[in-house]
Amino acid sequence: MKPRSIYQIFMLSLSILMLLSLSTANAAKAEKKNYEQARWDPIHFKPAIDKATDEQCLACHQEILDRKVRKESPAGVKASDALAWYQTLETYEGEQETFHRRHLKTPMAKRLMKLKCNTCHQGNDLRDENPGSSATAQKGLTLRKMVDPNVCLMCHGTFNYKVMTGLPGPWPESSETFANNCLTCHAAFRTNRHKVNFLNTEEIEKAGTENGDFCYGCHGGRAWFRVGFPYPRHEWPGMAKEIPDWAKDRPTESDPRFAAKPSGDK
Ligand code: HEC
Ligand code: HEC
Ligand code: HEC
Ligand code: HEC
Ligand code: HEC
Repeated sequence: MKPRSIYQIFMLSLSILMLLSLSTANAAKAEKKNYEQARWDPIHFKPAIDKATDEQCLACHQEILDRKVRKESPAGVKASDALAWYQTLETYEGEQETFHRRHLKTPMAKRLMKLKCNTCHQGNDLRDENPGSSATAQKGLTLRKMVDPNVCLMCHGTFNYKVMTGLPGPWPESSETFANNCLTCHAAFRTNRHKVNFLNTEEIEKAGTENGDFCYGCHGGRAWFRVGFPYPRHEWPGMAKEIPDWAKDRPTESDPRFAAKPSGDK
């Protein structure tokens, strides 16, 4: 071998080595994002957030599921002694839990629901929680809110007894007459229900036969709002052809964002 080509081979392998070390350095950088890079990660916004899995979110936000409530408030009230008005339904159980765990991790949450991070989170404006304040802000967000309250309203609205023919008043007043069982009527009315991707359709019906508070819990028993959700009115077997006045503006299908996938329940 000529001395010149040995030199060339040496230079070539040197540059390959340098390239290799450069690219591994880059790969390490890409994995470990700094704070600004992480909070502006496209996964937080449309369109990427629609495809995000819980695992991807939890890779950075595991604390959301691990955090525990305080054992005692700063003023000295023990969490174990506290019971809020919405925690007195017969179906309430377990110790005080965080908001996220109550929706994602507790036995009842896992039985009745299959909420995902992006069922609620659809992006939010990090700059000032205002979707209209810059040209690049994601459109369609709710001002000063991280999550659209209409999502909450689906399960935390008031009990719309006024549209329930045969029901004389609010549920706490009339439940005894119906043995605390919504299915006395709902075995026949609006039976085409809960076919959305964040609910366990069949488990909910089973739970409803065990205790009406399971149903009432999502339909007035934990109402944060003074209004009820304008539920879509799905056609059901035996439905009268005439549409009552209150239902004239109602959709007849669930929000397409929540369209249930045909594959199974759980
Ligand atoms: C690469 C890491 C990373 C990933 C992946 C990630 N986040 Fe974040 N997220 C952050 C950081 C960092 C912040 C800023 C935290 C802070 O300021 O305390 C943040 C903030 C947030 C906030 C609060 C925003 C605000 O205005 O304060 C929400 C809500 C959030 N993330 C939800 C999600 C969801 C839902 C997903 C999955 C779709 C996700 N994140 C994926 C790193 C990440
Ligand atoms: C039931 C709806 C709902 C679900 C499901 C949900 N979140 Fe949230 N999340 C909220 C609400 C509401 C807030 C509070 C927003 C505010 O303070 O304005 C919040 C706040 C947050 C925050 C910022 C505040 C904090 O507590 O640190 C992060 C990060 C976050 N969520 C991540 C997640 C991740 C990750 C998942 C999935 C594992 C998830 N969320 C599932 C509704 C939800
Ligand atoms: C798919 C139905 C559903 C949606 C959507 C939903 N929740 Fe809930 N929420 C529940 C259920 C079920 C419980 C009761 C859990 C229990 O008693 O164990 C609950 C409980 C709560 C509690 C009480 C937690 C506790 O520790 O007692 C709060 C607060 C709450 N929800 C707020 C919200 C907010 C805010 C949103 C919207 C961001 C929301 N929920 C969306 C079903 C839902
Ligand atoms: C006396 C019979 C009766 C009982 C008991 C009853 N409902 Fe209803 N409910 C109805 C009727 C009738 C409608 C309206 C049917 C229609 O769309 O024409 C209705 C409608 C509804 C709707 C849809 C409301 C809307 O705005 O679209 C929900 C949700 C509902 N009921 C939940 C419940 C729950 C939960 C219980 C038990 C806590 C319950 N109902 C008990 C008769 C009843
Ligand atoms: C975990 C919360 C949750 C529980 C438990 C629950 N529901 Fe619902 N219900 C919802 C949500 C969310 C919708 C709207 C779904 C959609 O958009 O199609 C709904 C819709 C309905 C509707 C409207 C049906 C239609 O025409 O689409 C009726 C009626 C109803 N529920 C009755 C009941 C009864 C009866 C039970 C008990 C067997 C019950 N719900 C238990 C959350 C709940």
